[in-house]
Amino acid sequence: MTPRPVVIDTDAGVDDALAILLALRSPEISVEAVTTVAGNAEVHQCTRNVYAVIERAGSSVRPPVVQGSAAPLRLPLITAPEVHGAGGLGSLVPRLMKRPARTGTAAFTIAALARRFGNRLTVVALGPLTNIARAVQKDVRAMRSVGRIVSMGGAFRVPGNTGPVAEFNYFVDPHAADIVVTSGLRLTVVPLDVTQQVMLTWDNLCTSVAKLPARRRTWFHRLLDGYMEYHALTEGRRSAYLHDPVAMAEAIRPGVLSKVRTGIRVETWNGPARGMTVFATLPAGKSPFVATGVDHGNWKILSRRIWR
Ligand code: BDR
Ligand code: CA
Repeated sequence: MTPRPVVIDTDAGVDDALAILLALRSPEISVEAVTTVAGNAEVHQCTRNVYAVIERAGSSVRPPVVQGSAAPLRLPLITAPEVHGAGGLGSLVPRLMKRPARTGTAAFTIAALARRFGNRLTVVALGPLTNIARAVQKDVRAMRSVGRIVSMGGAFRVPGNTGPVAEFNYFVDPHAADIVVTSGLRLTVVPLDVTQQVMLTWDNLCTSVAKLPARRRTWFHRLLDGYMEYHALTEGRRSAYLHDPVAMAEAIRPGVLSKVRTGIRVETWNGPARGMTVFATLPAGKSPFVATGVDHGNWKILSRRIWR
């Protein structure tokens, strides 16, 4: 089986880190590049975090890392240190990068990979959609030729996690999200409705890493400790939602998530409904797929790859 080429666009917080580990350990795909976007943390922190996760994955193939947008298209940046820790990776403090990442060229890289691989390419967007929207603005034809774009974002029938109605990624850059969901791309949106069907408890974590050498175990604990404390406050239980790994699982093994095809829009007005996703009628053929459920058996098998 030839691995499918994938580009990961990420704001490299705690759950992004787990999703990147999953991707790098999945023989079904080959990660051609990792691009970074401001979101959970500032973009230079996200870039540094990606290097740290790639190093932690320990694979011999190291994808190029390209730093992207430092701020949303039109609104000031909002980060989430209360969820992901001051630097984005819980209480881990990644070493400074030995060499600076190529900066500001993420959208260019994504569009170039779209031209190179066309419908063989999968784009996995784990953060605000700023870089993806910029790639669409640069070369919409190439982006429409991409086989699949999987975006973690949105909240339809569940409350938001950033304010009452919005999910974080689409809240941070609603303009980018609305461009991406209305551009006629082969898009699958993975909203909170689905990602919140998968929860990792502290006990699950301890069991999953129990047999690892102490250093690796500590790495996971330091990554997830604060994230789980945050969820203890919001969900009443020391646990974690694995939003980005669930979206990554669908990119690795299409069909892990069930989907419906429906037009959607994202509220861009900077008021109480900012970033809210709503069902909408789009011109024929332009509607994305929206994930609705998880095949838990398949997810369990894939997710074991994270804990190594
Ligand atoms: C999304 O927002 C970020 O905090 C997470 O990394 C995930 O991509 C969940 O709303
Ligand atoms: Ca993310």
